[in-house]
Amino acid sequence: MGESLKLKVPASTANLGVGFDSIGLALNKFLYVEAEVSADDRWHFHHKGDNLHGLPTDEHHLIYQVVQFLEQKYDMSVPPLDVTMRSEIPLARGLGSSASALVAGIYLADFFGHLQLSEFEMVEAATEIEGHPDNVAPVIYGGMIAGFYNHETKETYISSIEPPYVNLVITIPSYELKTHDSRQVLPKSFEHEQAVQYSAISNTMLSALMQHDYQLAGMLMEMDGFHEPYRQDLIPEFQRVKALGREYHAYATVISGAGPTILTLIDPSKSGKLVRRLNKELPDCESELISVNKSGIIVEKVYD
Ligand code: HSE
Repeated sequence: MGESLKLKVPASTANLGVGFDSIGLALNKFLYVEAEVSADDRWHFHHKGDNLHGLPTDEHHLIYQVVQFLEQKYDMSVPPLDVTMRSEIPLARGLGSSASALVAGIYLADFFGHLQLSEFEMVEAATEIEGHPDNVAPVIYGGMIAGFYNHETKETYISSIEPPYVNLVITIPSYELKTHDSRQVLPKSFEHEQAVQYSAISNTMLSALMQHDYQLAGMLMEMDGFHEPYRQDLIPEFQRVKALGREYHAYATVISGAGPTILTLIDPSKSGKLVRRLNKELPDCESELISVNKSGIIVEKVYD
């Protein structure tokens, strides 16, 4: 039987300022994956377009490693696959490109390994690999999700939140920033008093979002203490984008995931003006409007 699988996997933005490793939002930019059983019994990866340039085409590929992880976890095997990928999500920019590939790997293992994983089990497996659910959970479910991964028990907890009715603007620098490097600059621990304060800010931000009080939510998003103070120096454009956002009364400007992309939340009446200004003043970056993805990953199974 010549079965194949087609996946349309959304991008994502993590943290939203104060929700470090916890809050994420799926975005309408996509990784497209098509896979079928390989004719020569070997794994092959074909990459189309510029955004996947330089990725391995053999067993060093992230998707292969994810499939291997699931083979061990569930004691099953997946036949070698022929995988073709095309992506609108730039690599190492804080838009969840590896989370999208990771999730794609889980769906491939599930389909070709006949695993019958539930969506929640997919989130659990993805979180176990990634270490936090903030990108992978929205990629699977769509929309906005807050989550928590217990590293000791390996349990994942997630809760979905209504996405904010605001416009989103992303400013994508031309350079890459590897998540590993962007995590290296973070402190290993915080004093109890600081941790209490930052988690109180995060709780209040989520409550304000749920009440659609975007002024308050945005103000609190910019008060993160867990990562932005340490990462902003890695992104020279950050302060300029924040200042321009303020000129247009943006609700908040934060680092998207581990950066270097910068995310601005803004009223729809001002978003277009801000994008045009950003593109004029920061010509080395690409600024654009982007919308929330509500569907999550789309899966098409083809049985010949
Ligand atoms: N929450 C993660 C971080 C997202 O900020 O490092 C990227 O994996």
